[in-house]
Amino acid sequence: MNAVWSESNGHALPSLVTAIPGPKSQAAVDVLARHESPGITARRARQGEARGVGKDPIVWDRAAGANVWDVDGNRFVDLTAGFGVAMVGHAHPRVVEAVREQSGRLLHGMGDVFPNGPRIALMERLAALAPGELSQCILTGGGAEAVEAALKTAALASGKPGVLAFWGSYHGLSYGALAATAYKGDFRAPFYGQLGHHVRHLPYGCDPALIEGLLAGPASGGEMIGTILVEPMLGRGGQVVPPPGWLAALRRIADERGVVLIFDEIYTGLGRTGAWWCGDHDAVVPDVLCTGKALAGGMPIGAALARPDVMAAWGQSVGEAIHTATFLGHPVVAAAALATLEVMQAMDAPAAARAFEAATRARFGDRVRGRGAMLGITLPSPGAAARIMGRALKRGVITLPGGVYGDIIGLTPPLALSEAQITYAFDVLADAIAEEEAAGG
Ligand SMILES: Cc1ncc(COP(=O)(O)O)c(C=O)c1O
Repeated sequence: MNAVWSESNGHALPSLVTAIPGPKSQAAVDVLARHESPGITARRARQGEARGVGKDPIVWDRAAGANVWDVDGNRFVDLTAGFGVAMVGHAHPRVVEAVREQSGRLLHGMGDVFPNGPRIALMERLAALAPGELSQCILTGGGAEAVEAALKTAALASGKPGVLAFWGSYHGLSYGALAATAYKGDFRAPFYGQLGHHVRHLPYGCDPALIEGLLAGPASGGEMIGTILVEPMLGRGGQVVPPPGWLAALRRIADERGVVLIFDEIYTGLGRTGAWWCGDHDAVVPDVLCTGKALAGGMPIGAALARPDVMAAWGQSVGEAIHTATFLGHPVVAAAALATLEVMQAMDAPAAARAFEAATRARFGDRVRGRGAMLGITLPSPGAAARIMGRALKRGVITLPGGVYGDIIGLTPPLALSEAQITYAFDVLADAIAEEEAAGG
């Protein structure tokens, strides 16, 4: 499958022709800063102080495989896959071709009212790939929406409004998802008064007895909890693998209490952790599973999958569907997802992810945590990851800081990385870490 990339396209080493960020990037960010909400362009101010790479981010122009080019003509190696999305490689030719073909045929469908072929084929494909009997689904336009579709499904199926989620978890930032997200206080604090107060949080990986105690109520209020929502491995929260047996304990508790168990596999799913689904490592199947990110190879998508007996809680559609969206089951996105899933299967995405893990552990040893191609390199001090991100970017390697305290370098690369790219990128990271440590970080 790697034959699709060449040493000049997708498998190239970095090539930097300007300072980072270059003048065109800086000029473009000037315009951006005038027109975008300053909260979203905040990166600009932070960059200068924390990352030592000048005050602006690079502006992306083109990407292929594991390479990204900015508007100044600099070429980078991407160890993030753009938030884990470009798992099969940026702009995989099969995905691009599917988008091209489908957009000439049917660019927009009609949501729940008139289905389209790619939407139907994708749901059939997802049912075959899903663990257990999760054969019915709700397609969405992104991850947070998929979490909300899953939460609605679980509320209907359990008949209870309460949700148990976990500290450090990231489920998205729309209001329904944000009520469950507990990644960093800053995300919730300004909106706290408007968040549903039906969500309780416990520490990720906590003693299952705590969960049993909460659900036993009545003094705790836990008797109103009908849903457990959990990432089977923390993603943005810092690549945290739960203790052995923890997911199985959640499964047992959910069964005993009639609670619906949702796995948010938006980051972990589709092979990224070295198995098709992260729950597979522990042989645990949830009642509802959320997927997204890498699913459509770069196009926006999410999905909530459930067993038919759980989805049945929605009842039969009579007249208007009570859950839908203008772009539901978008035909071009669905066609991209079908192509992406084919590529993932052909390349054996879980095996490729395991190979990346082996290479990373061989290089960084005990500093590595996580699974597959969803790894974190641990650093001694909070905030160090942002500085290392800056140092690595100046040498052409794109990384993201991770973890609640910014002390993790997150690695969620495209599985299209070449060996030469891995060696180069690891050398850069090792140097950046050494410099950080020498500077007392
Ligand atoms: C585990 C998990 N769930 C949900 C989301 C939200 O997805 P989106 O940003 O597509 O809304 C993310 C995004 O990072 C995620 O990592």
